[in-house]
Amino acid sequence: MKAIIPAAGLGTRFLPATKAQRKEMLPVLDRPVIQYVVEEALAASADEVIIINGAKKAALIEHFSPSPNLSEFLLSKGKAALANAVDHAGDLPVSFVEQDQPLGLGHAVHCAAAKTGEEPFYVLLGDVLVPDNQVLLRMLDVHKRYNGASVIAVFKVPRELVSRFGVIAGSQIQEGLWKVSDLVEKPAVEDAPSEYAIFGRYLLTPAVMELLAHTAPGAGGEIQLTDALKALLKTEDMYAVVVDDDEGFDTGTIETWLETNVRLAMRKPEFAQMLKDAIASIG
Ligand code: G1P
Repeated sequence: MKAIIPAAGLGTRFLPATKAQRKEMLPVLDRPVIQYVVEEALAASADEVIIINGAKKAALIEHFSPSPNLSEFLLSKGKAALANAVDHAGDLPVSFVEQDQPLGLGHAVHCAAAKTGEEPFYVLLGDVLVPDNQVLLRMLDVHKRYNGASVIAVFKVPRELVSRFGVIAGSQIQEGLWKVSDLVEKPAVEDAPSEYAIFGRYLLTPAVMELLAHTAPGAGGEIQLTDALKALLKTEDMYAVVVDDDEGFDTGTIETWLETNVRLAMRKPEFAQMLKDAIASIG
């Protein structure tokens, strides 16, 4: 199964850090955000990760290309662990597809249509990290259990925030699993059919690619993936797996990126004590 990571947004919230590189290249601890997302897709048995690229892509492409000179240099200095880390990033099975115009998430996903063909595929939005890699695996289980149906991830948000997201309607069929009956992208608070927002992980059937080819611009004048999923419900079933608060970490704004760094650092013994000491010393 292929995995698509749309990474063609402009990253304006992070300027000037994103003046010359994509926001997906910002580090969280020791690696760029997008490397976590690529590794998550591979941990859920993706055999190739397709990054949808826009402007300012040179560093991103270089990150996922072999760097034999750097690797040899590190080895000559006795830094084998760093050489391994460099080789690992360069060897990940990543390919690139160009999105020449920023026409929306649905358009970005459709740019990979020739690569996904007649197979189901994952979509992972690059803003969110799932460090334990468990969400796609739960979605894959549901996909298999329900005859290959599409599965999306959702999370519960306070009602006043629903307009930032795609929102589902549906019924809970067991703890943490919903059958989806409708979806709406960025609804007004009073129109939102639930408080369950689309989280940025999708396992979709090939029919979605066909629908995207004909999806008209929706919310914000953009071609929305959510609108294609709504159209899919006319012919196919869809399920939603609920993600817990501590499973996903948002890196989309400076505040949430900073919080993600702190939360992940606190999970690592080599950083946790240093961070506690630093904060205590500031008072
Ligand atoms: C996108 C999707 C939306 C989803 C959100 C999750 O919106 O269109 O359905 O809820 O990601 O982060 P965006 O954040 O690109 O506006």
